[in-house]
Amino acid sequence: MHAKPARKSRYREDLSETPDWMKKKKCPHRDQYMSGQRILPKNICGKEKLADLVDATFLAYNGARLNESCQLFTGKMLEADVTVGMSLSGALTPAGMGCSSIVPLIKAGFVDWIVATGANLYHDMHFALNYPVRVGSFKFDDTALRENDIVRVYDVLMGYSDCLMATDEILREILVQPEFQKEMGTAELHYLIGKYCAEWERKAGLKDVSVLAAAYRAGVPCYTSSPGDSTIGMNVAGVELRGNKLRLNPAVDVNETTAIVLAAKRGGGKSAVVLWGGGSPKNFMLQTEPQIQEVLRIKEYGQDYFLQVTDARPDTGGLSGATPSEAVSWGKVDPDRLPDAVVCYTDTTIAMPILTHYALSRHKPRKLRRLYDQRARVMKALTKEYFTHNKVRMLDGSKPVLD
Ligand SMILES: NC(=O)c1ccc[n+]([C@@H]2O[C@H](COP(=O)([O-])OP(=O)(O)OC[C@H]3O[C@@H](n4cnc5c(N)ncnc54)[C@H](O)[C@@H]3O)[C@@H](O)[C@H]2O)c1
Repeated sequence: MHAKPARKSRYREDLSETPDWMKKKKCPHRDQYMSGQRILPKNICGKEKLADLVDATFLAYNGARLNESCQLFTGKMLEADVTVGMSLSGALTPAGMGCSSIVPLIKAGFVDWIVATGANLYHDMHFALNYPVRVGSFKFDDTALRENDIVRVYDVLMGYSDCLMATDEILREILVQPEFQKEMGTAELHYLIGKYCAEWERKAGLKDVSVLAAAYRAGVPCYTSSPGDSTIGMNVAGVELRGNKLRLNPAVDVNETTAIVLAAKRGGGKSAVVLWGGGSPKNFMLQTEPQIQEVLRIKEYGQDYFLQVTDARPDTGGLSGATPSEAVSWGKVDPDRLPDAVVCYTDTTIAMPILTHYALSRHKPRKLRRLYDQRARVMKALTKEYFTHNKVRMLDGSKPVLD
């Protein structure tokens, strides 16, 4: 019997015998691919600063995406010429994200405009009103919670009568005030509510706990993509039955948000979107570019910077999981800017405090843009550009008044 001949497989060790010139020939792009940081982080000792920990140890998978998110936000989006929009979906304010992160981001001038679910802004009011929201457990018996006048958002609890219904009662009282008796967009609605929130905060001896109050003080316009879909919308509808004259007009919001993005570009700057979760706030923020290009027929190229934190997958066709490259096909994101786009698959309640801390520790505050006060100016510029690009008149045949 002859011994079985050794298998002639090509082991990687074989390469060590290959002369240098040949290695290069066989692997022309090797150095380029292998030019990344070596993965050899130091032992964690417990004395590191959080931002240093992110830089040094978040090196792979969604840790690396979060690291890239911090770099993109702090290094590029916060440059002086970038207008930053932030969308908020998921139950963030009940989880304390308003107080811990969104308010500091607003105060530092790190967010210039917001699109939130109405729910996030409604639950924000409990904080301004000093109605406690508490840590509970997702294991609690919901029938027992209902018997005990408590509602649950996963592991967060709030009183039904003394928090939810009490907030509703006060909200209805303010919605019938004279300043609300007209048609308006949601930025104005939230600004007017924010003024009350700032006052409640002050009376309760609280400081910087409410997103609406902080946005009111900083002139950050807060839009909601679905004004009927929250307890704010429910209360607006409730008082309408009694003859309240408040009418929310979503077209105002669509045009104002579009005008903000166009003004960012036309002013020689850039536009960035930070999308926390998905849902309709994500689309509402991103649809500004298709509105410019597809509907208003103005030449434009898409968002400059895109950052999303989400749990949603792209393969279901849902918008929450849609990637920046898919957004390129709609004109939402500038294809030349795709290398600057980051999607981090994690929970906002983990990523948002880390990114906020990172940005605050590495970047000085920016001058507040106060876009709320700029709405008329940017709308005028948008209207002018629309009529310049389109040979149309007003529907009654008259010439548009552009000055
Ligand atoms: N009282 C109200 O006004 C009211 C109204 C609607 C919803 N809610 C509450 O708010 C909760 C959130 O509702 P929603 O309308 O924001 O929709 P949602 O929670 O479905 O969020 C939209 C998408 O964002 C992503 N997302 C959500 N949470 C995330 C997280 N923590 N991290 C990363 N991605 C996340 C998911 O992909 C999700 O599909 C509901 O569970 C409900 O309890 C309250």
